[in-house]
Amino acid sequence: MSKILVTGGLGYIGSHVVVELIERGTEVIIIDDLSNSYESVLGGIVGITGKRPTWEKVDIKDKAKLAAFFDTYGSFDGVIHFAASKSVGESVADPMMYYQNNVVGLLNLVEECLKSKTNNFIFSSSCTVYGEPNSLPICEKEPLKPATSPYGATKQMGEEILKDMAKAKGLKTISLRYFNPVGAHSSGLIGELPLDTPQNLVPFVTQTAAGVHEKLTVFGNDYDTPDGSCIRDYIHVQDLADAHIVALQYLSKSDEEYEVFNIGTGQGSSVLELIHSFEEVTGVKVPYEIGDRREGDLPNIYANPEKAIQKLNWKTKLDMKQALKDAWRWETSYRNKK
Ligand code: NAD
Ligand code: WQD
Repeated sequence: MSKILVTGGLGYIGSHVVVELIERGTEVIIIDDLSNSYESVLGGIVGITGKRPTWEKVDIKDKAKLAAFFDTYGSFDGVIHFAASKSVGESVADPMMYYQNNVVGLLNLVEECLKSKTNNFIFSSSCTVYGEPNSLPICEKEPLKPATSPYGATKQMGEEILKDMAKAKGLKTISLRYFNPVGAHSSGLIGELPLDTPQNLVPFVTQTAAGVHEKLTVFGNDYDTPDGSCIRDYIHVQDLADAHIVALQYLSKSDEEYEVFNIGTGQGSSVLELIHSFEEVTGVKVPYEIGDRREGDLPNIYANPEKAIQKLNWKTKLDMKQALKDAWRWETSYRNKK
């Protein structure tokens, strides 16, 4: 596929996918409103690839501006849709913002895709759509439970909307259910860049190791897990980026209207394991204390990635230790530039 629209392409995951697309000779057009990213990410992309992708500052909630954008650029060979708000806590405090951005924004985008005859849609979904798993590792057939946050609800709704549009209008779609993306590009030129205090574990770990925070709080060590802390499936963002490339290739050849894939490693790691792995691979101590459980946290969830392995011919190449090394390289190189 030669011309791909990437919404949210200046964000954490989007920027890594943009790099992979450019490195494969794809023409990439990014729309991003910078609501959770910086224009300077473009510099990182240029530093890695030697090419500057086209970027338009468009808010997908702005119907008129989005339509004007499609009038200018015409049809695309595919769309990868990252643009969304992603903080679970913020979605509980401000559900309207989440439904507007993640659901209305998606509807606007789908409308323009249909009008411009743009097919092949990849949607950033999340393991959060599952809720509390009945069995582990969790596979795509597992029925979805009611969402535990407005953010989770927007991802469930997004999947439903796209399934219906695929069926009714032939918009071929893949929803990728990401588990916990971590790490950064090996160059240290792009990575996760939270605008505020990070809510996610790994950026909090790297910032604490860098001295930004006095200590990290481990949210609970009394869960029914081997060391008492919660277990997640931490996937390197580069492996996640590769999954988008193979999903695009697969979409262009597949006859399926709509499919869902888990994108995870299949390995669960606890919070304490992750902290100790970080200390081992970087040689830097992470001061931490054990705190209360965080409301809404699941004790244990990790993926069964077998469907993606079989059908997309994708598998992870990098482990959690590599992701933590890369996250630390990004944290230190970013801080040195400030
Ligand atoms: P991110 O916030 O770093 O990137 C999202 C990008 O979209 C940002 O650059 C932001 O400025 C942009 N954006 C947001 N709303 C927009 C709008 N209305 N119009 C135009 N641009 C807009 O987040 P990320 O971690 O890269 O996540 C990308 C996608 O993956 C999101 O849809 C998120 O819900 C999903 N996801 C993320 C994770 C995770 O842990 N990072 C896990 C599962 C799913
Ligand atoms: C991981 C583990 C925390 C911070 C969230 C969203 C999910 C998906 C990924 C988008 C948990 C523990 C964390 C800290 C800690 N995003 N932790 N101290 O909660 O698995 O998933 O991000 O779709 O939808 O819910 O990720 O990185 O916040 O937490 O002990 O300061 O680290 O309790 O067990 P989570 P996380």
